[in-house]
Amino acid sequence: MSEQVQNVMSVRNLSKVFKSGVFKPKYTVAVQDVSFDIKPGTIISLIGESGSGKTTIGKLILKLIKPSSGKIYYKGKDIEEIRNKDELKEYYKKVQGIFQDPFATFNPLYRVDRIFDMIYDSFGYDKSNKEERIHQVLQDVNLVPERTLGKFPHQLSGGQLQRLLIARALLMDVDVLIADELISMLDASTRIGVLNLLVELTEKKGMSVIFITHDLNLGYYISDESLIMYKGRLVESGDTKKIYESPVHPYTKMLFNSVPEIGKRWDPEEEFLPEQVIKDVEEFYKENAGKGFAAAGENHYVLYSID
Ligand SMILES: Nc1ncnc2c1ncn2[C@@H]1O[C@H](COP(=O)(O)OP(=O)(O)OP(=O)(O)O)[C@@H](O)[C@H]1O
Ligand SMILES: [Mg+2]
Repeated sequence: MSEQVQNVMSVRNLSKVFKSGVFKPKYTVAVQDVSFDIKPGTIISLIGESGSGKTTIGKLILKLIKPSSGKIYYKGKDIEEIRNKDELKEYYKKVQGIFQDPFATFNPLYRVDRIFDMIYDSFGYDKSNKEERIHQVLQDVNLVPERTLGKFPHQLSGGQLQRLLIARALLMDVDVLIADELISMLDASTRIGVLNLLVELTEKKGMSVIFITHDLNLGYYISDESLIMYKGRLVESGDTKKIYESPVHPYTKMLFNSVPEIGKRWDPEEEFLPEQVIKDVEEFYKENAGKGFAAAGENHYVLYSID
């Protein structure tokens, strides 16, 4: 267990199967047997084609959905055991998510200030310098307090709402921030600022970020470690530099081959899985039968076979 205490988050053999439809239920294996660790103060990017299970992992960590099997430990504690209201509150104080659609996080009927009021009211923070602190974090994320506070969600852009959520995380001393396609909603001028802010937060406050992205270049730029997902499975993980420079799994190889140069964006709409990759992956698993998920080097793991 000591290994799990040292990590801020440990995911072990996590699976999620969605069942939809009542009479003819359809089962979707969204996440299958995924294990990884998150060290304090690191940015870990979660990369993979559309539908590979990235958002599902984020939702499982945030306890928005329940795993079908497997475990998630937060500082050594099984999060399934976090059930009562006070413990949940404590958990959400430290583990937060910013999702693809920030509009869903805000109640359209309330002014956006409410996300800050809630911190003070329900989490019991010291209110003495409330206004000053809120202004400070808004400035940190490049928002003008006077033009932000007092607004309703529909009066702000998606990017502005996301920055508000980052400001909230700043105010709260979050341990783990799940940023799901955070950057795609930001305009170019604020992108770099927000990225640098995230890096600063991890360095100064020891916050860890799970950075879900389609943008391989961005993943390289921002993350210490990477997780590569393919069809619900974690196929390669570990040190970002190693994975990008010497990928082992055929899916990861294809991913980086399809990006001829650093600086090119991977288009998420692109039809992405040529038949060849499916065959290559099958062949790779056959060749390496019995090896399972194993080390390819120091802090570099590869799914060699699925037997
Ligand atoms: N509530 C749900 N009910 C049924 N199936 C679901 C549900 N949520 C997700 N899925 C399915 O699970 C799989 C993984 O979805 P997920 O949203 O985690 O993918 P993703 O990697 O985040 O994709 P994207 O890059 O498009 O955001 C997909 O096949 C999706 O259709
Ligand atoms: Mg997603």
